[in-house]
Amino acid sequence: MAEGNSREVVLVTGGAGYVGSHCIVELLNAGYDVVAVDNFANAIADGKGKPVSLDRVEELTKKKIAFETVDMLNSSQLAELFKKYKIFCIIHCAALKAVGESARLPLDYYKNNVAGTLNLLEAARAANVKRIVFSSSATVYGTPQYLPIDEKHPIGVGITNPYGKTKYMVEEILKDLHASDESWDILILRYFNPVGAHESGRIGEDPQGPPNNLMPFVAQTAGGRQKELKVFGSDYETPDGTGVRDYIHVVDLAKGHVEVLKLFKNHVGCKIYNLGTGKGYSVLEMVAAFEKASGKKVPYKLVERRPGDVATCYCNPSLAEKELGWKCQKNLEDMCRDLWRWQEQNPKGFSG
Ligand code: WQD
Repeated sequence: MAEGNSREVVLVTGGAGYVGSHCIVELLNAGYDVVAVDNFANAIADGKGKPVSLDRVEELTKKKIAFETVDMLNSSQLAELFKKYKIFCIIHCAALKAVGESARLPLDYYKNNVAGTLNLLEAARAANVKRIVFSSSATVYGTPQYLPIDEKHPIGVGITNPYGKTKYMVEEILKDLHASDESWDILILRYFNPVGAHESGRIGEDPQGPPNNLMPFVAQTAGGRQKELKVFGSDYETPDGTGVRDYIHVVDLAKGHVEVLKLFKNHVGCKIYNLGTGKGYSVLEMVAAFEKASGKKVPYKLVERRPGDVATCYCNPSLAEKELGWKCQKNLEDMCRDLWRWQEQNPKGFSG
């Protein structure tokens, strides 16, 4: 890596990804300088060594992003990175994130998500960079014992997949790290279900292969890339029998990261926030909302439950609102309209 510049930058790991790229748009718009790193495990390259998603972020923001190809499992690349850039803080999004795949490939998930984070933390500590925002997930709550779920809800019990367990383990690592050295400032963000896309339609979620998550599958079905949506379970204890989740617009989620960075102005310690809307919608409500927003039919079939799914999961978002002054601004129609624009303009995602 050549010499970086001397200005303090925000390091975004997994910066080429769905959440990472949307966070970078908001960070640049808020005046931060960014260095993005990614190993292209789940991102399309532009042939010039950069991810297509970040080329588009530069186009949208008219700002440059420093990019480095870095794998969290490559400690020398990480050491180089912290030598080259003056890193103010880290937003750690890099992780494998497919629930079903994690059950098939647990070692890959523990290695990438847990060992990769340990490598990152060791490189950061060696460079005396002790501010990190961790992309965690509602999945750490396991089967909800009460609803809405607040940050006091127990975690780590009844997590049904290795992906969710890696998120839980990294949270525990971060808490122990802070307990051992209180000079660390650690912000753990538990994402509920990110959906939608930037209003431009130029960036969005681009799963490689058939989507695991509901809304990218719905969008691809509406666009004819998938034949029919399978609705996993119609006998849950929910209003229409299908699973209920707290869907949050990815731009609201990204803006939440900008708000959270403001806490780093002072010593913050170790804090945990739910990032969600506090509202739950069922699978069939999401399908209906998407059909309305897109004007397209989404053929579906009711099939058996997906192993490991819970019936209902949605959050109490009040702590983030109280302490960060952050609240979701976008509604279900915005999520579906923006998702459809991304899908319609990019039927094959970034590789198209
Ligand atoms: C939502 C609802 C399914 C697909 C997981 C992770 C979470 C986060 C998001 C990574 C459920 C139903 C889904 C389909 C369906 N991580 N569904 N047919 O499982 O709530 O959360 O992904 O990004 O950490 O735990 O999200 O979108 O997979 O499912 O009926 O083809 O849609 O049963 O009720 P989930 P999801």
